Amino acid sequence: MRLIMLGPPGAGKGTQAQRLAASRGLVQLSTGDMLRAAVAAGTPTGREAKAIMDAGRLVPDEIVVGIISERLDQPDVRNGFILDGFPRTLPQADALETLLAAKRVPLDVVILLEVDDDVLVQRVAGRYTCASCGEGYHDTLKVPAREGVCDRCGATTFKRRPDDNADTMRQRLQAYYKETSPLIGYYYAKRKLRIVDGMAEIDEVSRQIEAVVAGLPELQGAAE
Ligand code: AP5
Repeated sequence: MRLIMLGPPGAGKGTQAQRLAASRGLVQLSTGDMLRAAVAAGTPTGREAKAIMDAGRLVPDEIVVGIISERLDQPDVRNGFILDGFPRTLPQADALETLLAAKRVPLDVVILLEVDDDVLVQRVAGRYTCASCGEGYHDTLKVPAREGVCDRCGATTFKRRPDDNADTMRQRLQAYYKETSPLIGYYYAKRKLRIVDGMAEIDEVSRQIEAVVAGLPELQGAAE
């Protein structure tokens, strides 16, 4: 199964991609995570991407397409993957189509998470993750069961992203509406788009996504 998790910053793409990857044995491919890893490793790509990401703008298409192209060549994606944060522009969507056609693997579905802007800002401003395993938390919306201790791995150190502040979030939303939202029409026209209410509670969003995935053969039938 190959799917795209589409939606604005803070919509829950990462949260839901992680859950679906675990429940369905898929690989989560997050370009944001890959770019942050490149920044942390100080690679030439990371050095170029850092200032752009910190400002809330989009990294050039050729960089992210190159990263995804290399990643799709690795054997672990053969059983299926969830693209989280890619594609984000029409040229990226076209490049993905070319890559998948060359591999003779179809894209099954694009799940759009819809969330109101004020909720997105609230979610992103309070977000932090475990510095050890990357489990995601939020100051008020998702706190660890034991204060200061990661539920998943027991670590006690957490970190926040430099782009998770109100100013940068405005830029990120602008980039989304200007450059990424045209993908909604792009995938609707290809009959791949399914819309999920990202305002619901995390478990309910997961249920809606599982229902979409469970209905995939019908979806493909309807598109033919
Ligand atoms: P990226 O890392 O992809 O960030 P993003 O798209 O801005 O998305 P986020 O990770 O902020 O949000 P999310 O939708 O994953 O939500 P999450 O699950 O974390 O990209 C960062 C930067 O890298 C970009 O700005 C750009 O510069 C660059 N980049 C990356 N890909 C690129 C590309 N393809 N092209 C060009 N540049 C690229 O949830 C958010 C919070 O809300 C969490 O705290 C979570 O616990 C909480 N939450 C989630 N769901 C719910 C819910 N239903 N109810 C309540 N709380 C919830």
